[in-house]
Amino acid sequence: MKSFESEYLFALCNPGSEKALKLEVEMMSLEWRPSYQRRGFVTFKTDSQASVGTLDVPLAFARRLCFSFGKFKTREEAIEILKFEAASVIHHARFHERKMQGGSQATSHQKLEEYQSVGTVVELGSQEFWAGMHCHRSFLSPYPAGDSGLIMPDHSPSRAWLKLEEVARFFDIKFSPLDIVVELGCAPGGVVLALLDRGISVIGVDPAKMAEAVMKSATTNREHTPSDRAWFFHCRKPAALASKRDLGQGVTWFMSDMNQSPEVVIKECARFCKMATTIRGAILTLKLTDLHQIADKDKWLYSLAEIGFTKIRLQQLSVHHKELVIFALK
Ligand SMILES: C[S@@+](CC[C@H](N)C(=O)[O-])C[C@H]1O[C@@H](n2cnc3c(N)ncnc32)[C@H](O)[C@@H]1O
Repeated sequence: MKSFESEYLFALCNPGSEKALKLEVEMMSLEWRPSYQRRGFVTFKTDSQASVGTLDVPLAFARRLCFSFGKFKTREEAIEILKFEAASVIHHARFHERKMQGGSQATSHQKLEEYQSVGTVVELGSQEFWAGMHCHRSFLSPYPAGDSGLIMPDHSPSRAWLKLEEVARFFDIKFSPLDIVVELGCAPGGVVLALLDRGISVIGVDPAKMAEAVMKSATTNREHTPSDRAWFFHCRKPAALASKRDLGQGVTWFMSDMNQSPEVVIKECARFCKMATTIRGAILTLKLTDLHQIADKDKWLYSLAEIGFTKIRLQQLSVHHKELVIFALK
């Protein structure tokens, strides 16, 4: 990306998360001062000239972080400055239907290369267009405003379908048909259905009942299921009672979507990773009672590193309300 001078940054976040984002920035001692703010949009003034590395700060509440070129009266003016600054792709974002949404242009599905410069035009009013730029990197969403614009299919029994599909798109997760996922808190089965539709087998741990649509793929004897067909095994008990025997061989992913505190979820993640050393990745939904629990971020990330994960991200997704996801790879 061409270097340029800007002391300003802007972040796109979920409406209602602005305060938590500012707290997160303060906690990280970044010395960025919050400047202008609208729903889902926060600008910061940095103490010194921001450099490309400035944007590498992993902020859980920022779905997109950009250098800011300021405010323009028309979209065309904003695009012009981004072209002048050599943006190779231009994304569009707008506050619409109470959400900070990515534009639905063809660019949304364009594959981005590592270090490709991406411009973003954020529409906040009929005469308020902000222009910003960032560099695409791994673990950054390739979609405008970090929002893939997914719509839940009718056959999904729960909104959790969106959480699995959005996290897969945000982090560009490469699942394999050979993967076996264990999901704690799997009922009624939105995540399980998304995984089965992707051809991935699932062991679901939850004392609650599963939806019919999921039970169609259920097996009681996974050893004798044809290897070309994804299966679901329901371990109908609380997570704490699940044992190594329930897991069997070859589990490669740990997922949790339980209504439990982050501490309980992370503790179970550590226990399951000990029982199944073949686990290579984890996706944990952390349900928060208050977004200010972000103050515990370092503690959570440290616990994941202690389990043996080396690449760990904490992120709020566009489909989240009072929750965050931890995506971790060994
Ligand atoms: C938000 S729902 C999960 C939605 C689900 N992932 C889906 O895809 O539809 C939370 C689930 O966590 C389960 N749960 C809560 N505590 C649990 C525990 N200790 N062990 C297993 N499941 C638990 C609840 O029974 C509930 O079904």
